[in-house]
Amino acid sequence: MIKKGIILAGGKGTRMSPLTKAVNKQLLPIYDKPLIFYPLSILMLAGIRDILIIVNKGQLNQYKKLIPNGNNLGIKITYLEQDKPRGLPDAFVIGEKFIGKDNVAMILGDNFFYGQYLTTKLKENIKLKKGARVVLHKVQKPESFGVAKIGKNNKIISIKEKPKKYFSDLAITGLYFFDNNVVKLSKKLKPSGRGEVEIVDLLNFYKSKKLLTADIIGRGGAWLDTGSIEDFYKTSAFVSAIENRQGFKIACLEEIALNNNWIKKKEIVNAIKFYGNCDYSNYLKNLIKR
Ligand code: TTP
Repeated sequence: MIKKGIILAGGKGTRMSPLTKAVNKQLLPIYDKPLIFYPLSILMLAGIRDILIIVNKGQLNQYKKLIPNGNNLGIKITYLEQDKPRGLPDAFVIGEKFIGKDNVAMILGDNFFYGQYLTTKLKENIKLKKGARVVLHKVQKPESFGVAKIGKNNKIISIKEKPKKYFSDLAITGLYFFDNNVVKLSKKLKPSGRGEVEIVDLLNFYKSKKLLTADIIGRGGAWLDTGSIEDFYKTSAFVSAIENRQGFKIACLEEIALNNNWIKKKEIVNAIKFYGNCDYSNYLKNLIKR
């Protein structure tokens, strides 16, 4: 059972400049809450309580103001800094001590997932013992993504980064599950032409050993990546539409913790004090009224 998770929440945020000049992308709003709440909610829904958040050097204070520790969420949060964006597998080098001898889940700080059965799927994926698993989602423009072809038993047979010619329309999302070998393997990776270590190289290694499998999110689920300003607005509109229709919030961290029995009323009361008088707190008040 995977009990540890990493959120990679640094990055340059070039596409969102000037918004990201002074503030990290993951602290910008997706509708009514900071982006970082969404990937964090995914790890929590999976049942993961030991979480490492990797942030850019110099931005730790910003994050700590928002999520000082995991106390009100019944989880343990560790922060580490990345001195520069060396690439996604760098998370496993920075996180070596945190990971220890365990298997680990990793989610990119700017990935948004939503849909029925998502929690069930996540709980299935954290059972991974050996190998690696990626989460795939059909996209209309596969040429903009890393894509994968799958064979029997959801084994991945081929991966291509931004293929010019049609190859598959199943994009590799920013949610991964790895066995402990990932640390050793990540340390051996050499930077690619763009100067970063590449997750594709890591995945290809697992693939060559026939140890790379896929979990596919069907059309009832949504995966949105929030790398550009346009994506930010589209994702915000999606969250707003669902939340205002249903009256349920997406990625309310305290609600997930409460449902998981990780916290009690007391922690919700503390959270309300922490956030102050706002819509999010009103939602928390309603949770403990029932
Ligand atoms: P990217 O989309 O590759 O990059 P970015 O967020 O820096 O934005 P841009 O392309 O506009 O410059 O990163 C995906 C996510 O992973 C994002 O949340 C930032 C994070 N990340 C790190 O924290 N460290 C890294 O070394 C890399 C490459 C990404």
